[in-house]
Amino acid sequence: MKNKKVSAVICAAGKGERAGLNKNKLLAPLYGAPVLWHTLKKFDIEEIDEVIVTSSKFDLEEISAICAPFHCKIVLGGTTRTESVKKALEVVTGDIVLIHDGARPFVTKELILNCIKTVTTHGSAICAVQATDTVVHGHYGTICERLNRENLYLVQTPQGFMTDDIHHAYTQADGEAFTDDSAVYGKYINKPHLIDGERTNIKLTYKEDFERVFPYSRSLPDGCRTGFGADVHAFGKGEFITLCGEKIACGKSLIAHSDGDVAVHALMDALLSAAGLKDIGHYFPDTDEKYRNADSVKLLERTVEIIKAEGFEIANISLSIQAEQPRLASHIENMKKNLRHSTGAALESIAVAAGTCEGLGFVGEGLGICAYANVLLRKFKEFTNGKDQ
Ligand code: CTP
Ligand code: MG
Repeated sequence: MKNKKVSAVICAAGKGERAGLNKNKLLAPLYGAPVLWHTLKKFDIEEIDEVIVTSSKFDLEEISAICAPFHCKIVLGGTTRTESVKKALEVVTGDIVLIHDGARPFVTKELILNCIKTVTTHGSAICAVQATDTVVHGHYGTICERLNRENLYLVQTPQGFMTDDIHHAYTQADGEAFTDDSAVYGKYINKPHLIDGERTNIKLTYKEDFERVFPYSRSLPDGCRTGFGADVHAFGKGEFITLCGEKIACGKSLIAHSDGDVAVHALMDALLSAAGLKDIGHYFPDTDEKYRNADSVKLLERTVEIIKAEGFEIANISLSIQAEQPRLASHIENMKKNLRHSTGAALESIAVAAGTCEGLGFVGEGLGICAYANVLLRKFKEFTNGKDQ
């Protein structure tokens, strides 16, 4: 099997009109990655030597970006699937070619391998499953004929062929539009060979297909980003510490170049991280005299300006502070209000938790305080052209 070179053509040049997502359905997110990415991942196996993806001119940039890590060739498609496949076949260099709809991301490696194997033994391999519903011919609202379900199959992709055969067939299919490749092969070359497809290998066609299969896929829109930050400061001589802008008298202070607000520092790092920016040390270096004893809340306000300039707003803030002492519970409401004031985030989307370390580690021994922050940012609509919000 391995002495024959195998190519895959992934059809992605459609408009996805029936899905009604206002863009090519293959670019829609599923579990955080575009549909097309999931399909390409399935073909990223050593048995496949080259992958060719068809793209419309309109989606070229986005499809190129998705394809880049997979090292695919990209070919401009045509107005019908038949035209797109025809153009892709012009650049296929493998002996065997599998043609697959980008809209079928659930295909398995087993099916792909069975398809390749069957082409070597039978010259073609068309995945299909038996119809489970009764299929009838309807005409003007009445049933005219019932078809024998035992002989009815629902044809899927991948469909595998010897490249020379299918290339020759498509060359002859001038101007005709076929719904799949087996129809072209069947008309010009030979009877296509059926193999068992998979019921899970559905084609995402209508909006309902997306909603049914991926109820969660749209819950985190493209424009949402999470970020994590952490910081530690050791105790030193002093009278009070500052946490989330709140001064808390405790007979010591936190040693730092700035005011040592460990919670705000963790939060700033989380915000910058979610926006894909460099860390706090880059924007506010502790070697800069300007930041000696700086009020960290002012630096937080500056950080919020920086992420806003990148087009982000804060969806929520979750902070956790670990301190053996002082006890922080009675200060938490004020901390949250300070954060609301300096970030603009709604009070109900700011959470601050505090706990001890049960006497363990540097926090438990009372040597310092550490803080962790987690944030979710949302991209402003005008920065996403209103897409997918
Ligand atoms: N396709 C293609 N070139 C075209 C039309 C379709 O490469 N001119 C691809 C689609 O991107 C899809 C596959 O062929 O992965 C199967 O087509 P279909 O499910 O019909 O997708 P769309 O044509 O995009 O959807 P619709 O018909 O609803 O507009
Ligand atoms: Mg179509």
